[in-house]
Amino acid sequence: RLPKCVRIVEVGPRDGLQNESHFVETSRKISLVHELVDAGLRNVEVTAFVSPRRVPQLADSSAVLSAIRKKTGVSYPVLVPNLIGFNAALAAGAEEVAIFASATEQFSQKNINCSIQQSLDRFRAVTTAARAYGVKVRAYVSCVVGCPYEGPVNPEAVADVTIALKEMGCYEISLGDTIGVGNPKSIVQMLHAVLQRGVPVSALAIHCHDTRGTALANVLAAMSVGVSVIDSSVAGLGGCPFAPGAAGNLATEDLVYMLQGMNIDIGPVDLDRLSATGRRICAYLGRESSSRVSAASHNN
Ligand code: HMG
Ligand code: MG
Repeated sequence: RLPKCVRIVEVGPRDGLQNESHFVETSRKISLVHELVDAGLRNVEVTAFVSPRRVPQLADSSAVLSAIRKKTGVSYPVLVPNLIGFNAALAAGAEEVAIFASATEQFSQKNINCSIQQSLDRFRAVTTAARAYGVKVRAYVSCVVGCPYEGPVNPEAVADVTIALKEMGCYEISLGDTIGVGNPKSIVQMLHAVLQRGVPVSALAIHCHDTRGTALANVLAAMSVGVSVIDSSVAGLGGCPFAPGAAGNLATEDLVYMLQGMNIDIGPVDLDRLSATGRRICAYLGRESSSRVSAASHNN
């Protein structure tokens, strides 16, 4: 039985742009967020308050977030790795942040330069501060089925980190196949391990990179066990600078096409406008869209 409603979390402006080597002008980042919201998306991850030395592309996070014209009913989460990032995000007007942990030690070290346990301690400081300011906290777990440094990942390790993030007050935990190595079977096995440890399915989201073309199948498999929050990225942009081989995310256009065709309620998303947004940002970046739906509608 599939969920009747799905909430899409658009991560293009953050996950989609973070790996782009040429700096995207601040005004272009802002207009991308506006266009995605105008296309009907209700959750748009805007940027990341991380070290500008580590991710130069998002060095303008304060300028981007503070210039967004916010619409009521839309959430604009931003990534924060620690209290420094949280405070900067708060100053720029963040009402929702996302913290990000890893299921594997080596990816944790490469990505945020600390162990899993150290990261959880930092994140607890963030969730405590967030509670005091009434800021919502979402969380990610990376490498939920495979790690670029450690190979296949034990689902119990994913469950351990997910529970820790839930217990510190995150309202939702997005499980990331960071390098797109999962398949419907490994994704469902991983989800069962998390669910068996008592995390409610309503607190889970799925975040599939589409490196090997399995993202849409993996998303449908996650939906079959009740996951109803799905991350995706316009035009399939995306990648992680610290995960070699991480290609783009599942393209939002392709996800929207599938869900609307299945009569699953995703809110008022206009697929033509979304596809046009994807084509515009790809033209700006000088790259091809990875959305199959966008390519098909453009050629027909
Ligand atoms: P660090 O360099 O390891 O450690 O940063 P540090 O604490 O020693 O700090 C060094 C310098 O960074 C200091 O400045 C700090 O003030 C500064 P200095 O004194 O040398 O001038 N600093 C910061 N500056 C700005 N914002 C901050 C901040 N914190 C410290 N928040 C840190 C640790 C985590 C910040 C760093 O390693 C980092 O920024 N990593 C980048 C991680 C990242 O953005 N990865 C990509 C996103 S995750 C992802 O894509 C996966 C996901 O999509 C899910 C999936 O696909 O699986 C979410
Ligand atoms: Mg990602």
